[in-house]
Parts: sequence; structure tokens; C-alpha cells
Amino acid sequence: MLTGKRILLVISGGIAAYKALELIRRLRERGAAVTPVMTRAAEQFVTPLSVSALAGEEVHRDLFDLTKEAEMGHIQLSRVADLVLVCPATADLLAKMAAGMANDLATTLLMATDTPVMAVPAMNVRMYLHPATQRNIATLTADGAHFVGPVEGDMACGEFGPGRMVEVPEILAAIEGAFSPKPLSGSRILVTSGPTHEPIDPVRYIANRSSGAQGTAIASALRDLGADVIFITGPADVAPPAGVRIVKVDTAAQMLEAVTSSLPVDAAVFAAAVADWRVASASDSKIKKVDGALPTLSFAENPDILATVAQMTKGRPPLVVGFAAETDDVITHATAKRARKGCDWIVANDVSPETGIMGGSENAVTLISKDGAEAWPRMDKAHVAAQLAERIAQAVAAG
Ligand code: CTP
Repeated sequence: MLTGKRILLVISGGIAAYKALELIRRLRERGAAVTPVMTRAAEQFVTPLSVSALAGEEVHRDLFDLTKEAEMGHIQLSRVADLVLVCPATADLLAKMAAGMANDLATTLLMATDTPVMAVPAMNVRMYLHPATQRNIATLTADGAHFVGPVEGDMACGEFGPGRMVEVPEILAAIEGAFSPKPLSGSRILVTSGPTHEPIDPVRYIANRSSGAQGTAIASALRDLGADVIFITGPADVAPPAGVRIVKVDTAAQMLEAVTSSLPVDAAVFAAAVADWRVASASDSKIKKVDGALPTLSFAENPDILATVAQMTKGRPPLVVGFAAETDDVITHATAKRARKGCDWIVANDVSPETGIMGGSENAVTLISKDGAEAWPRMDKAHVAAQLAERIAQAVAAG
């Protein structure tokens, strides 16, 4: 239910604008109040009369409206809501938002608001996949906006692909999720993620193929449950999540230092693929080619960050979660790893090539704890992260 919540609904000009009418009805059925704002282009697709009739409130359309400025200025209008929902969010409006433009009522409200912003994109597939749109979405995500969709499907323009607006029930679920309880609020949780880079000389390093996707998804899921997340990441492929404290490191030694200086925490999740070895004496200058001779690298073992923290006698986080990537005898190896490292849980995954998990979007994990092994069904990495975050919330609440 959304009883007592006020939603400032910005409708921009796309063919999917007609779905905003249904959305207004369903929001009101759930007890929400809807303050509608329409762009000029939106009025070409749905009439302000239909929108205001369904919302039970007048539609705000003009930036320079003397009467309205006298009654309730646009700054105040942007702040009275519990959520600003942009639906549909066209490529044009996203571009204006990302650029920080404020040349009509909708964009001015979006610039002036201090309320969470949720955008529901809807556009042609080429427009959605255009690097400019992708850049704008990345910018807005980094600025803290939440996106719902788009999804793949048939489009009104006759094409097929990503760009289609999600259906009304999914928008409602996302809105309800945004208002859902935050069981981890007040908790500090540390997440390590990504690979480490171990230098050979100033221009060369040893690395691994970790993308950082699973660690990033976990940090986002913990943030969504209200945790104050400290995200310690090596040089990853995926962008770090918004709304978390980001600590960027390169090497395992730097990661250990960042982890220990972030303690105390209520829980620590070690999802990074830390290099087991570093080059014992990395060269300060670039190693030059010498005719007929090959360089020899000698290695030193890196600190095991998970084991170091899990075995602390003072200041050990109450919940320490490690990961294990295995290719065979997953449960046996992961159970032994849990005991060897001294952590509370191990999230084990089978990364044998036939699973397609390494580098893919899905994961099939087994959670190993003192109570035994619990196999989770195969699901995408965001769902694994959400389920793990829920379990962490239960464990933190249980103390
Ligand atoms: N880990 C760590 N510091 C290291 C090495 C690993 O914190 N120097 C953590 C990882 O973040 C992960 C877990 O330990 O949570 C993985 O343990 P590891 O022994 O590296 O296992 P695998 O990667 O599964 O490799 P192996 O089977 O070779 O031991």
C-alpha cells in the first residue's frame, strides 16, 4: 500500500504516455496522491483533462504561471512529494536531466527537487541503445536516480528490442519497493569487489578477469535495504553503485589496508577476486627488453584479507561472508574453505565452463554456513544479491 504517499508524476512526450493514465488510477487505488506535471510534448499524446480527471488534481504545465507561483512556487512543488516519478521518461527528457537543464516546468522541478527520483524510460530501440542515451542513464544513475526498465519487446513504432516501457504492475512494484522498510538502516556493511592489479613495473601488472558485477550487485542490494555501504573495489569493469561510499584500490595490500581502516562494521562481504600473489620486488622503472634474455619474476604471497578479518581476535565483524569459485566438488571444497578461513558463510559458485556463469549474467550459488549447505536455484546476479542481502539483514537483526 502507498497510503499517505505523494507522488509527483512527470509525464513526458512519448507514445507510452497513455500508460501513465492507468498508472495514476492504480496509484490512487493504493492510497497514493498524485500531483501530475506534463511537458508540452506529453500533451500531444494524452490530454491534461484526462490526466487531471484521473489524478483528482490539476495538471501543472507552466513554469511561468503567476497565479501558481503565488500559490505554490515550483521549488516547493518539487519538494512536497515523497517520490518524483518520471513516466514515461523519453530520450529527450533524460538528456535534459543528465545535462542539468531547466528550461520548462518538468526539468526545473527535476533540478530543484531534494526527493528521490525514479525514471521509467520508454523509447525506440535505436534511441535507447544510442551511446548518448546510455551515457545519460549512467550519469543519472551516478547522480542517484533509480531506473525501472526498459524491457525488450514489440514497440509502437514496429521495431523490436530494448526500449519498451515496463508494464504498470512492475512500476507499482518498484514504487512500493522504494517505500519498503529498510531493515539495514543504521548498519554499516563493508563489501570488497572486483579484481586487484599487482604491479610488475610502472606500466605492467598481473590481473584477473573479475568484472566486479556480483560485488556491485550486492552493494546495491544492501544499500536498497538501508545499509551504509563501504564499497572497496579494485579496478572493475562495471561502474560502482550510486549511494555507497566508494574506496578505489589497485593492489591486495591496499585493499587490506582499506578494509582494516573501515572497521568496525556490522557485516563484511568479501566478493573481490584478490590476487593470491604479487611480484616480490616490482620494478620502479619499466623493465627493458634485453637481447637474448627473458625477465624472471619471483612472487610473494598476498595477505588473505578474508581470513585476516575472519580471524581477528578484536574487532571482528559479527558476520563475515566469503566467496568461493569452484569447478568441482563445490560443496566439499567450499565447506573446507569456510573452516580454513574462519568466516561465517561462504557463498560458493560452480564456475566450470559448461555452467556459463563466469562472465555471464546468472549465478547458481550454494550458501555454506555452520548449519550446512543450502543450494539456491539459478537466477540472475541481481537476484542472488537481493536474496543474500535479505539473509544478511536477518542475521544482523538477530545479532
Ligand atoms: N580472498 C581475500 N584475500 C585474498 C584471497 C581471497 O579476501 N588474498 C577472499 C575472496 O574475496 C573470496 C575468498 O577469499 O571471498 C576466496 O578465497 P580463495 O582462497 O581465493 O578461493 P578461490 O578464489 O575460490 O580459489 P582457490 O580455490 O584457489 O583457493
